[in-house]
Amino acid sequence: MSAAVRTVEVRVPATSANLGPGFDTLGLALSVYDELEVSALDGPEIDIAVEGTGAAEIPTDESNLILRTIRYAYEAVGRKAPGIRIRARNGIPHGRGLGSSGSAVVAGLLAAKGLLEGVAAFSDADLLRLATEIEGHPDNVAPALFGGLTIAWTDDETPWHKKLLVHRGVSPLVFVPDRTMSTSTARSVLDPAVSREDAVFNVSRSALLIAALTQSPDLLMAATEDRLHQNSRAAAMPETDKLVRLLRAAGFAAVVSGAGPSVLVLADGPGRRLEALAVAEEHTSGSWQPLMLAVDFLGGTVKASAEGASSHEL
Ligand code: HSE
Repeated sequence: MSAAVRTVEVRVPATSANLGPGFDTLGLALSVYDELEVSALDGPEIDIAVEGTGAAEIPTDESNLILRTIRYAYEAVGRKAPGIRIRARNGIPHGRGLGSSGSAVVAGLLAAKGLLEGVAAFSDADLLRLATEIEGHPDNVAPALFGGLTIAWTDDETPWHKKLLVHRGVSPLVFVPDRTMSTSTARSVLDPAVSREDAVFNVSRSALLIAALTQSPDLLMAATEDRLHQNSRAAAMPETDKLVRLLRAAGFAAVVSGAGPSVLVLADGPGRRLEALAVAEEHTSGSWQPLMLAVDFLGGTVKASAEGASSHEL
């Protein structure tokens, strides 16, 4: 049985990407978390245990995404990964459009950053680049790393981000269904081309959404309209489409969370959020779990499990 030579504690928030018009670009960190204790061992073994949301479906062998990411990070700095012990408490629902895979990738990178402190350094840019290489797109991993509202873009395959603070009146509400949706399926049904009219429609709404989320929550309804992805995906998740339409018809800024099938409501204040909850509960069966969340402003964190040491400072 190997012993731990260094242990770090990692916490990573859930994220909601797209936010309506900001396809593959905008993301919001939300106050539901995966928490982990990760140890570098003095022997070669791998020892992974997961509890919490969806724990039974998470592999605890070599295919575990957090483990693969830790190894990827070690390799990126020319080091061989040691044996690893992972103890995870998951709060982020899996396969529901809340960025669980992006958060797992961020958890693995932050764990490696903490375990390698003093040996190799990872800048914020390094973390975003490595996370995007693994995840494929930066819109979930950017808010999982940095918190708040993030605008993410790539330039010659290098990902960048800008973090913004969200207006305190914005009150997120997520409806999580008991069904899952794979991101690759949701991406396979997207139209390969978009009209200029639809492109202009989304450019205007995305620009407006930045203003709505940071300054003017009263604009959230107009600012969350989308013509790039939600319509093409509606047939693949009819219950989601129905709930989004129901809530929007009642005046609430509802969108598909990420690639679905959860629904995100960006309510204009806590009172309006309760009204949205009441509308949804009146018109749906009990198959949606509502989560009243806050925007997470911190992003992922890592610290040595004994006092002091490495915190992921922004
Ligand atoms: N922007 C991505 C999508 C988020 O909608 O496919 C899912 O990870």
